[in-house]
Amino acid sequence: MAEHPAYPVGLRLTGRRVVVIGGGQVAQRRLPALIAAGADVLLVSPEATPSVEAMADAGEITWERRVYTLGDLADAWYALIATSDPDANAAASAEAERHRVWCVRSDNADAATAWTPATGHSEGVTVAVLTTDAKGRDPRHTAAVRDAVVEGLRDGTLVAPHHRTRTAGVALVGGGPGDPDLITVRGRRLLAEADVVIADRLGPRDLLAELPPHVEVIDAAKIPYGRYMAQEAINNALIEHARQGKSVVRLKGGDPYVFGRGMEELQALAEAGIACTVVPGISSSISVPGAAGIPVTHRGVAHEFTVVSGHVAPDDERSLVDWPSLAKLTGTLVVLMGVDKIGKIAETLIAHGKPADTPVALVQEGTTAAQRRVDATLETVAETVRTQEVRPPAVIVIGEVVAIGPRTSA
Ligand SMILES: C[S@@+](CC[C@H](N)C(=O)[O-])C[C@H]1O[C@@H](n2cnc3c(N)ncnc32)[C@H](O)[C@@H]1O
Repeated sequence: MAEHPAYPVGLRLTGRRVVVIGGGQVAQRRLPALIAAGADVLLVSPEATPSVEAMADAGEITWERRVYTLGDLADAWYALIATSDPDANAAASAEAERHRVWCVRSDNADAATAWTPATGHSEGVTVAVLTTDAKGRDPRHTAAVRDAVVEGLRDGTLVAPHHRTRTAGVALVGGGPGDPDLITVRGRRLLAEADVVIADRLGPRDLLAELPPHVEVIDAAKIPYGRYMAQEAINNALIEHARQGKSVVRLKGGDPYVFGRGMEELQALAEAGIACTVVPGISSSISVPGAAGIPVTHRGVAHEFTVVSGHVAPDDERSLVDWPSLAKLTGTLVVLMGVDKIGKIAETLIAHGKPADTPVALVQEGTTAAQRRVDATLETVAETVRTQEVRPPAVIVIGEVVAIGPRTSA
């Protein structure tokens, strides 16, 4: 039997009896997939781990609290034998053979008629890895191969385009704060499948270098309207490329809906009748402070955090921010796009009651190799920004949370 490689197959177990003998760790690991497959699972075991017991309590499996007895496998389509008693395992295995029931054995793979492959899932695909050489079974190697394939599919480094399901349209993808590892799995996969990528200045620009040569990359911060591509021009580019039947990714910094104009783009696409999917991203408002060792909340210190845009000064009539009210909050204030106006912002907060010695941190180019943290107080921050030449992009954190952590990053 062991001379030949195993024959891989997918079992349709819905409603079919699967008998599991033994309720220990092996059963605990295997049962969720059997339940997910819709199997009618009968567990025979005097004991079970708390997790297995919970599955029985929830009605996901039937548990008979006893030892294996001859006849248990009579109605089974498939069996998993995993007790700590070698004699019981051998007897159950022999019964499985007599009834022609495919049987996995945890104690002796060579004596089994079936092996469980190392499995993983990614977007509608199940990856199952078995060792070809029956004598050289190496579960760690098969698990490592499985991990590599699943991870590659998830993060897009293993490109397997969806030929049947892939449709033209636009994905607004939040790329995270800049570190290429901080994009979501879904975002990375969509990026790997794109024909056209329209990218912002902020976000994981390193990922663009990994794109295959046929992918058209459009820099939204450049042409055709000088330094900033007008929002309308971005919308038009999205629409035009999607209308050509292409798969378009609009790669944005952080999260598309946090000061990212994501909804404007989605609305323009909807008006043009173009399908659009939105993939959330890790916003710089939380991740950049975190990368510099600052938690936006902390037990006993800050029970709220407020994220505001500082792109216009508090006395600017276009400002929608109620700075006097923010001055009264005791939690953390996170200011985005605020480097230029921080002097006015600090002045306003102090004028409305925020203590002048409130700690402030500016984290420039967070999560990138150029990350830099500069500390100040509300009173000194304007001068510090000038003397330390802090430049955008930076996240400004105002509040006691700035002072609580060990200074681990520069
Ligand atoms: C137009 S907003 C976009 C925010 C983005 N949608 C998000 O969720 O992070 C741009 C501002 O985000 C902040 N920002 C984004 N990425 C950053 C980074 N890596 N380091 C520091 N600040 C960053 C800066 O305040 C910058 O001016």
